[in-house]
Amino acid sequence: MSVAQRPQPRPGVLAIEAYVPGKSTAPGIARPIKLSSNETPLGPSPKAIAAYHAAADQLPHYPDGTARPLREAIGRAFGLDPTRIVCGAGSDDLLYLLARGYLVDGDEAIYTTHGFRIYPIATLSAGGAPVVAAETNYTADVDAILGCVSERTKLVFLANPNNPTGTYLPFDEIRRLQRALPPHVILVLDAAYAEYVRRNDYESGIELVATSENVVMCRTFSKIYGLAALRLGWLYGPAPVVDVLNRIRGPFNVNTPAMAAGIAAIEDTAHVEAGRAHNDRWRAWLTEEIGKLGLEVTPSVANFVLIHFPEVKGRSAADADTFLTKRGLILRRVVSYQLPHALRLTVGSEEANRLVVAALADFVGQS
Ligand SMILES: Cc1ncc(COP(=O)(O)O)c(C=O)c1O
Repeated sequence: MSVAQRPQPRPGVLAIEAYVPGKSTAPGIARPIKLSSNETPLGPSPKAIAAYHAAADQLPHYPDGTARPLREAIGRAFGLDPTRIVCGAGSDDLLYLLARGYLVDGDEAIYTTHGFRIYPIATLSAGGAPVVAAETNYTADVDAILGCVSERTKLVFLANPNNPTGTYLPFDEIRRLQRALPPHVILVLDAAYAEYVRRNDYESGIELVATSENVVMCRTFSKIYGLAALRLGWLYGPAPVVDVLNRIRGPFNVNTPAMAAGIAAIEDTAHVEAGRAHNDRWRAWLTEEIGKLGLEVTPSVANFVLIHFPEVKGRSAADADTFLTKRGLILRRVVSYQLPHALRLTVGSEEANRLVVAALADFVGQS
C-alpha cells in the first residue's frame, strides 16, 4: 500500500506532540519518590476510599449518565446550580470536549507560552489552530492574549494558577480579559489548582461564570482531592455551553466508583483543609530552602514549584534531573513547556521535601 492509500487522520493530528506524563520510575530504585505529577502527598480522604470500595456492588450496572449525585454534591459544596455543571473523565475530558464542540477547521484557540500542554493537543485534535500568546515573567499577560485575538479565535485556554509555572492572574486581570474578548470567544478558566491558592485577589472563575455568557471554569479531583487515578473533573458554565458539552460527551464518561469517591471527597472539608495547610507550610519551606542554594524558584501559589538551573554543563536542569533520579527522586522535566532550563517539583511529604533539598544541596555543591 502506498502512503497516499493509507487511512489518513484529520489534518493537524500528526502535528501533535503526544503528551508525556510525569515519570514514575527510576532505574534500579525499588520505591522512588514521585514528585512529577502534582499529586497530593496526603492521598485521598479515607471517606473517599471507603465510598469507592462500597461502590463495588454497583459494577454490573451502568453509571448515572448525567452524574447527577456528583453534580448535586458539587452544587452544595460551592453553592452552584447543578444543571450548569458537566462532569468529565478528568478535566482533560472537558478540555477536549470544548475544543470539539467549538472549533471548526482552522479556528483558533489561544494559550500562553508555558500553558498546560493539553491545550494545543486538544485544539489540534479538533482540527483547530493553536495560537501562542507570550508571557511576562512566567505569567500570563492579558494584553498579549488580546493581541492574539483574530476573527477566527473561538477559545482562550488559561490555567489559573498555571502549570508548570505556579503563577496566577488576579481577578481584576481576568475580568479585564473577559470584558475585552469578543462575546463569541469562550474564556476557559482552568482552575485545577484553585484549592491551593491563598490570595485575596484570586477568584477561581465561579464569579465570572455566574455573571457572563462566555466563560467556563474547569476543576479537577486529581489534585487536592487525591483521586487522579479515578479520572474525575467538572466544568461550570453558561447553560448553552453545558448543553453543547452534554450532546457530545461520552454518555457514561464518569464511572460509578469515581462518582462515589468524588462525593465523599468533596464533603470531607477537613481533609481538604489539611492538604491546604500542608501545602502552605512546605511550599514556603521548599521555596526558601532551594532559594538558599542559589537556585531561582518562581513564586508559586499552587502545589508545586518551578526551579531554574543555570544553562551550564554539569549544572543544568538535565544534569540535576539525572542526579536526583539516581537518588530515587523524580521531578518533572518541562522541556515541552519551553522551559528546558527548569524542573518542576511537586510539594511532597515532609520526608520527600527534606530529601529533595538535601539532594539539591549535594548537586549544587558537587557541580
Ligand atoms: C492546569 C491543568 N489542567 C488540567 C489538568 C488535568 O487534570 P485531570 O487529571 O483532571 O485531567 C492538569 C493536570 O495536571 C493541569 O495541570
